Amino acid sequence: MIIRNKHFNRHALRIASAMLAAAGALWVASVTAQTPAAANIFTAEEIKKILSHGPWPVSATPAKDVTNRVSGNADAIEFGTRLFFDQRLSGSGKVACASCHVAERNWTDNLKRGVGTAEVERNTPTVFNLRGSNWYGWDGAADSLWSQSIRPLLNEREHGTTPRQIAQLVRGDEQLSCRYRKAFGAAPSPTDDESVMVGIAKALAAFQETLVSGRTPFDMFRETLAKGAAPSAWNFSEPATRGLKLFIGKGGCTNCHSGPNFSNGEFFTTGLSQFKPQGKPDPGRPEGVRQLVESQFNLLGRYNDDASGNSAAHTKKVAMEKTVQGEFKVPSLRNLVLTAPYGRDGRVETIAEVVRHYADIDPISAHAKDGRPAVPLKLSLREQTDLVVFLESLSTFNNPWRPDDGGRCD
Ligand code: HEC
Ligand code: HEC
Repeated sequence: MIIRNKHFNRHALRIASAMLAAAGALWVASVTAQTPAAANIFTAEEIKKILSHGPWPVSATPAKDVTNRVSGNADAIEFGTRLFFDQRLSGSGKVACASCHVAERNWTDNLKRGVGTAEVERNTPTVFNLRGSNWYGWDGAADSLWSQSIRPLLNEREHGTTPRQIAQLVRGDEQLSCRYRKAFGAAPSPTDDESVMVGIAKALAAFQETLVSGRTPFDMFRETLAKGAAPSAWNFSEPATRGLKLFIGKGGCTNCHSGPNFSNGEFFTTGLSQFKPQGKPDPGRPEGVRQLVESQFNLLGRYNDDASGNSAAHTKKVAMEKTVQGEFKVPSLRNLVLTAPYGRDGRVETIAEVVRHYADIDPISAHAKDGRPAVPLKLSLREQTDLVVFLESLSTFNNPWRPDDGGRCD
């Protein structure tokens, strides 16, 4: 029995009838009196693990990205917002960042794989909650949010544009150059196309840093535990509670889907995705590292605004690290309900199917990475359902962000 208080169910029913009676304050009192104390459900060790998945949002005043001099700058954020939706930043004039990262679809597209001027090889991840990551993209081929924002511009199946086209657009458009000037304190260079493009990417990054997904039922449940209060069955159901227990325990999920954003930001093989573009397996991390090391836009290059060089430490180290074919970045599990289909190749249609994958096979060949034997999880059908219900509790439809009304720059 996962939940130790075996009267949980009956209590829930009693609470339900109390609610039907709509007895206002009396009802509140009965909830408090009848829900089991956290200590009856979780051990101290488990509560510690649960608390490690918050608070959410992480911080009201987040640290600036020192590699981007316009990080946190209000004019750059406004500029970046417009750029994100601007189709003129593409060779065809028809593709914007927002073509694939659609605001009302949790900043993704609900397609198997993204489609710009043509279909790309991977599922479109969200641009929520990216601030402060070490690596970007499924293979981590970028080490900053601004350099990741350059990749789709130059990729011929995404925006398919060039530094020259971008720089000419910004120089030639009165509104874009006005916003550039406001954000960077200087006009776009008349000769250095590449530096203008990097500026555009830094404004795009300043905007994306502001995107943080909303508070979920899990966050409220966690907060209750953090206060040492008894959780309420009204915002966290019994199956969700059992699923959480599996997630942090037997399922081993927290090993990789850790921290407030449910990702440790590192790379593992899980066998979840199997798509082979052009008949060849997607190499993932090793190829990502190769591209990162070669890129003139990485943090070791001249566009890093951090004079101290400290911010490039992880990039310097990565070329030496052992990587394995088929490793991909651990995705966040926030707002999964809004982001089907799943996996790096978008092959998996439902959350239940992802969980079935983990239930049947040894999901975690990566556990062997730290010398631990890989053991199949063998989750029962009920355990699988419980996990799905818990994963659903990490989603909310209340994700704050509204487009602005678009004033003029002068
Ligand atoms: C054709 C669809 C498409 C367009 C257009 C597009 N993206 Fe993406 N985006 C993707 C896909 C697919 C990935 C995953 C890339 C990979 O791993 O190879 C991605 C990844 C990202 C990431 C990394 C997210 C993470 O979890 O690491 C960021 C940031 C991002 N895009 C921002 C942008 C910006 C900014 C633009 C516009 C300049 C843009 N994207 C245009 C499809 C698109
Ligand atoms: C060894 C690290 C690791 C462990 C442990 C792990 N995952 Fe994952 N998870 C990943 C990686 C990596 C991916 C992306 C795989 C891919 O598509 O190639 C992923 C993908 C997912 C996805 C799809 C998300 C999306 O947006 O596409 C879900 C859901 C998920 N995992 C849930 C779980 C659950 C539940 C558990 C515990 C039973 C678990 N994971 C354990 C690393 C891990």
